[in-house]
Amino acid sequence: MKWPDELIFIPNSRMPQKTTTVRMDGRVCILTGATSGVGYHAVKRLAEGGARLVLVCRNAEKAAHVKDELEGEYRTSVRILKTDFSRLAEVRKAAGTILEEYPRIDVLINNAGIHMSRRILTEDGMETAFYVNHLASFLFTRLLLTRLLESAPARIIQINSQGHRFGGLDLDDLNWDRRRYRGLQGYGASKVAQLLTVWELADRLKGMGVTVNAMHPGGVRTNIGMNNGFLYQWYQRLLIWPILKAPRISGEAIYYLAAAPEMAEVSGRFFNLTIDEKPAPHALDRAIGKQVWKISETLTGLAEMNG
Ligand SMILES: NC(=O)c1ccc[n+]([C@@H]2O[C@H](COP(=O)([O-])OP(=O)(O)OC[C@H]3O[C@@H](n4cnc5c(N)ncnc54)[C@H](OP(=O)(O)O)[C@@H]3O)[C@@H](O)[C@H]2O)c1
Repeated sequence: MKWPDELIFIPNSRMPQKTTTVRMDGRVCILTGATSGVGYHAVKRLAEGGARLVLVCRNAEKAAHVKDELEGEYRTSVRILKTDFSRLAEVRKAAGTILEEYPRIDVLINNAGIHMSRRILTEDGMETAFYVNHLASFLFTRLLLTRLLESAPARIIQINSQGHRFGGLDLDDLNWDRRRYRGLQGYGASKVAQLLTVWELADRLKGMGVTVNAMHPGGVRTNIGMNNGFLYQWYQRLLIWPILKAPRISGEAIYYLAAAPEMAEVSGRFFNLTIDEKPAPHALDRAIGKQVWKISETLTGLAEMNG
């Protein structure tokens, strides 16, 4: 049976996944949001593969537990940078510390993410999902880019989502002032914005030894959405969790994208776990992508920095 493009993620999610046994000994990997779910399983797998880790996390206590576990179990070095991605000042500070302390970066994995069932604004007055899922990772990547280029070959992996298929991105109403906020579309908008900037960045990095790809980490049982109200939590635990998979598959897929030699020169692609997949048409609109790039530079202050 030939599946239509819009539904291709269904058969893809049942395909056998690619894995690699190639080790990452001593490679510096930076991952955001390592305290739970997808990120936690990714850093476990990276530590098992010998990577040196920098975990960028908002909860110091949870991060300390992960550090103890990884250092105890895998004898690797783990550095924690306490950073809340809903504050761009903290993102800038974390990037500054990394630039001071790490002369090379081999892999950057932007994983921290959130799903909001209600419209809540950040301290800067922006919708939270867009800010945390897209703007903060956009800024973090850009601030570390020179170091990634100096470290080439290097890889950037954006943990995106099939949620991009929900759409929701309206460049004239990023803050949902004029529309009724819907969680899935708010989440979708943030992931569409991120995908569109992946294609832009991949073009800019062509031939420079740094790749950038996006991936959907599978439909997996994690804490995503648990920041929302009791009803949402109940719905998630009772109705959604039973149909989801264990997040170990996400860790394995991220490791593959970070380590596999055959991925060394692949860039500007979207992966469903490890399967190369065509995103939704609205996430492939390069004209809108160029606008998103510009708006994101303005909102993060990068436009001002770059003059
Ligand atoms: N689970 C799925 O089925 C699924 C599907 C598609 C895509 N994804 C994507 O996978 C990524 C990881 O999500 P998950 O499912 O593993 O959810 P999760 O268990 O809730 O983990 C999210 C991680 O992001 C961190 N985080 C959230 N807001 C943050 C902020 N403001 N600043 C810094 N860190 C923050 C969380 O920190 P705390 O531990 O402190 O909360 C946690 O470490 C997200 O980008 C999500 O969109 C997940």
